[in-house]
Amino acid sequence: MEDLKNKVAVVTGAASGFGRELAILCAAEGMRVVLADIDEAGLKHTHSLLPDGAQALEVRCDVSKQESVDALAQASIARFGAVHLLFNNAGVGTTGPLWSTTLDDWQWVLGINLMGVAHGIRSFVPGMLASGEPCHVVNTASAAGLGAYEGSGVYCASKYGVVAISECLYHELQTHAPHVGVSVLCPAFVNTGIADAEERRPAEFGERNPGAAPYAERARQAIRAGRLSAADIARITLDGVKAGKFYILTHPKIKASIETRMQDILLDRTPTHVAG
Ligand SMILES: NC(=O)c1ccc[n+]([C@@H]2O[C@H](COP(=O)([O-])OP(=O)(O)OC[C@H]3O[C@@H](n4cnc5c(N)ncnc54)[C@H](O)[C@@H]3O)[C@@H](O)[C@H]2O)c1
Repeated sequence: MEDLKNKVAVVTGAASGFGRELAILCAAEGMRVVLADIDEAGLKHTHSLLPDGAQALEVRCDVSKQESVDALAQASIARFGAVHLLFNNAGVGTTGPLWSTTLDDWQWVLGINLMGVAHGIRSFVPGMLASGEPCHVVNTASAAGLGAYEGSGVYCASKYGVVAISECLYHELQTHAPHVGVSVLCPAFVNTGIADAEERRPAEFGERNPGAAPYAERARQAIRAGRLSAADIARITLDGVKAGKFYILTHPKIKASIETRMQDILLDRTPTHVAG
């Protein structure tokens, strides 16, 4: 998708971090934007940061619920008539050794990170197929979708899943509807609200991994130390969409560990340890 002007973008997780910056950048490109998140105050703030004259709609949406994402698609079409660019971006993180994970850890993270993407594809792609217009879906995975890190089993599982469904979706669309493109965004650590996602974890998923603390602290420090900003990630992502890139790796340094993992598999080695 090269020409974004007057097209419609939907961004989940638009109240913070990458989603906020993607929304600002899309609006700066002359797109009409739908801002979706569970954090309504954050959505208002993102809206206030859009360039003057931008057309935007705020929708409270819980991506872990299919009916909520269906309602987002309906609200987007009702307001703007079409959706051309979908960012399945909302996400959360948790840490801790796998043997002490709780069911709440799994259900919370997979419900948002993995099922949120599935819901977005189910709610929006049929309309994109039917429109015949150039459209594009960007699924936010992570470097944790391309490598395995100690204490990140639940998060990695969710993000490997996002990489897998993005690759499958790509093949399906190439066969059936090549006017719809796909990208999978795989950043490493960037300083965003995700460092504090656990603090906003809903009470219904309240039981946390009792072994999380040392891993959580390490992850928070790594996120806070991220050199690229969320705005950098948004710029690289939108450039990737325009260029029709599938894998958007914002931190080229991760390629060495991806290579090592591939070699481990191909050469029948045990997994090489990579610090997360
Ligand atoms: N920041 C990083 O280091 C990093 C690295 C790789 C991948 N990612 C991924 O990038 C994406 C965006 O994260 P971010 O870093 O901007 O974090 P962030 O916390 O700043 O933004 C995530 C947004 O998702 C929203 N959200 C949470 N649960 C939701 C739900 N059920 N429905 C709708 N919205 C919900 C939050 O309210 C928040 O506004 C996530 O998928 C994350 O896993 C982040």
